[in-house]
Amino acid sequence: GQPFIAYQGHALFVEEVSLQALATQYGTPLFVYSKAAMLSALAAYQRGFEGRQAQICYAMKANSTLGVLQVFANAGCGFDIVSGGELERVLAAGGDARKVIFSGVGKTPAEMRQALKAGIGCFNVESEAELDVLSEQALGLHMVAPISIRVNPNVDPKTHPYISTGLKDNKFGVAHEDALRIYRHAASLKGLKVVGIDCHIGSQITDSRPYLDAMDRMLDLVAAIEAAGIAIEHIDFGGGLGINYNNDEPPAADALWALLLAKLDERGYGERKIMIEPGRSLIGNAGVCVTEVLYTKPGEEKNFCIIDAAMNDLPRPSLYQAFHAIVPLNTADRGRTTQTYDVVGPICESGDWIGRERALAVAPGDCLAVLSAGAYCMSMASNYNTRGRAAEVLVDGGKVNLIRQRESVKDQMRNELQALGG
Ligand code: LLP
Repeated sequence: GQPFIAYQGHALFVEEVSLQALATQYGTPLFVYSKAAMLSALAAYQRGFEGRQAQICYAMKANSTLGVLQVFANAGCGFDIVSGGELERVLAAGGDARKVIFSGVGKTPAEMRQALKAGIGCFNVESEAELDVLSEQALGLHMVAPISIRVNPNVDPKTHPYISTGLKDNKFGVAHEDALRIYRHAASLKGLKVVGIDCHIGSQITDSRPYLDAMDRMLDLVAAIEAAGIAIEHIDFGGGLGINYNNDEPPAADALWALLLAKLDERGYGERKIMIEPGRSLIGNAGVCVTEVLYTKPGEEKNFCIIDAAMNDLPRPSLYQAFHAIVPLNTADRGRTTQTYDVVGPICESGDWIGRERALAVAPGDCLAVLSAGAYCMSMASNYNTRGRAAEVLVDGGKVNLIRQRESVKDQMRNELQALGG
């Protein structure tokens, strides 16, 4: 399924580079990304929007490493940010502030001012109280803040409860029924200019249906808001398109958008500017995590394969019971017997597992690749157990580019101070 990450003979390659060679050179655990895979994922959206007014804003929470942001910035992407820190990263990577949209339920006044001064394209406001604070901050700077309101279309994306966000009972956005009233409120505030409407219904969505339903609900609202005399220049449809982790079959980005744009056309909104905020679907399957087998450990109930990557590097299995395929870097027959293992990390928690009941033919010293590790892995990595965060490498054809050095313990202790008097 991943043409940019494939075996050549018995060896797993990312583009033209052998992963074993990278593991030897840079050590493990090591994240490796294929630039061609990233650009190919982006191209599917670009094809989908050909001839339309559209802006793709990469949801950088999926992977916010500067080298990754640079690839998307150079390809013309804007960015969906959720903190002042993410804005600083965009600017450091050479991104265009005018193509930045700022989402999130808890923007601080300081972050609002930072974003206003940088000249971002739009604030996606998530509550009525936030409208008032943003207007005040903008007026204090003698500026006007461009805004969308994030509306909850209340459709069920049928994904994991932790990553479904468009339903009534979660903290995101405003209720569909309240939206018109809140738009009127926004339009009355001197420090704000309404420019769009926004939604985001969840993540790892593998079905077109919830998107089509959400589009209908959004267009109903656009009609109502414009009838009230408030112009909506753009429709931001959020992110959420899933990827293939384990025989998942999400629609291709261009196929999904063909359906959604047909709906827009049908309802007379075909000329409207579209914005989207994809994260996982742009980077998830472009990255792998290379890890070394430290020990195999037969147990009474099960066998364990203990690797040098852990839940601090790959938090999705422990957090969401997520599945990531785990494959050997070398498939040559080296006399190992195939056994069923739970693949676990060195962290002192039973929840530190990366894969369960996997058939593997491995011995200590062998390397494995954890697939689909481009999104929500490094960006969610932690230092638990004083483990340094992994190194990251970007592969472009036969070229290898170290984009993050392995974090040292010194790096980790840099901001800590000795207790006075011990
Ligand atoms: N826009 C907003 C407002 C979001 O909250 C998100 C993701 C996105 C866009 C991008 O969604 P994507 O295209 O990546 O699905 N850590 C979880 C996923 C959390 C998603 C949070 N919001 C995971 O590892 O599955």
